[in-house]
Amino acid sequence: MDLLEAMEKRHSVREYTDKKIEGEIKEELKSFIGECNRESGLKMQLILNEEEAFKSGIFAKFGIFKNVKNYIAIVARKCPYTDTDTGFYGEKVVLKATQLGLNTCWVAMTYDKNKVNVEINDDEKLVIVIAIGYGENEGKAHKSKTINKLAKFKGEMPDWFERGLKAAQLAPTAMNQQRFKFNLLSDGVVRAETSFGFYTKIDLGIAKYHFEIGADYSSDTKEWVWKY
Ligand SMILES: Cc1cc2nc3c(=O)[nH]c(=O)nc-3n(C[C@H](O)[C@H](O)[C@H](O)COP(=O)(O)O)c2cc1C
Repeated sequence: MDLLEAMEKRHSVREYTDKKIEGEIKEELKSFIGECNRESGLKMQLILNEEEAFKSGIFAKFGIFKNVKNYIAIVARKCPYTDTDTGFYGEKVVLKATQLGLNTCWVAMTYDKNKVNVEINDDEKLVIVIAIGYGENEGKAHKSKTINKLAKFKGEMPDWFERGLKAAQLAPTAMNQQRFKFNLLSDGVVRAETSFGFYTKIDLGIAKYHFEIGADYSSDTKEWVWKY
């Protein structure tokens, strides 16, 4: 399964079976997380067989999540810029997990932060967690804004830009808010933008990763660049 297929397949899953993440799957996931940590400076940690964070807390009562026993905790330096990186690299791990046959759900609110079993230094914060495991189901596709609503551009839309937007449509966002926009400033120059709001910077990082894959950013014959 390539990354485009993984993006199509991925939906948030909130109910999990008892099947453990183990063996080669576990090792491959851990090593990928390690690579992403080295590249980003984030401290993503895979926590296995730990049920407390999703069992207690005010949200547990609503029963939104069932049988979450594993999660990835994302710890980052206390600095506003790390939120976009959290989204970008967290989604890289999410899509890798999808390729490995696992299901996931980004979780900002509906878990108990105090029960998360990770080390956090004084200059760090727990940004968010990602529930992970073998799902009871595959989730379902979210409703999406049209690509025109997710873009700013003048004239004709280049093919690569359209492919990037289509991939970004598939990105998970908090409460499915999709408040990101890709602005084609001039020929081959794109700025990713978002408005102020809850988790919008994390959402932006996630959408940027999707856009890069759709618009083939890593290709040698790159047709465009980011404007920061
Ligand atoms: C930053 C972020 C935070 C999220 N927080 C929660 C959460 O606290 N509880 C929850 O049930 N879902 C949460 N989600 C999942 C979104 O509701 C979900 O991604 C969105 O509805 C789109 O659906 P999809 O992921 O199936 O495509 C979050 C997603 C993101 C990206």
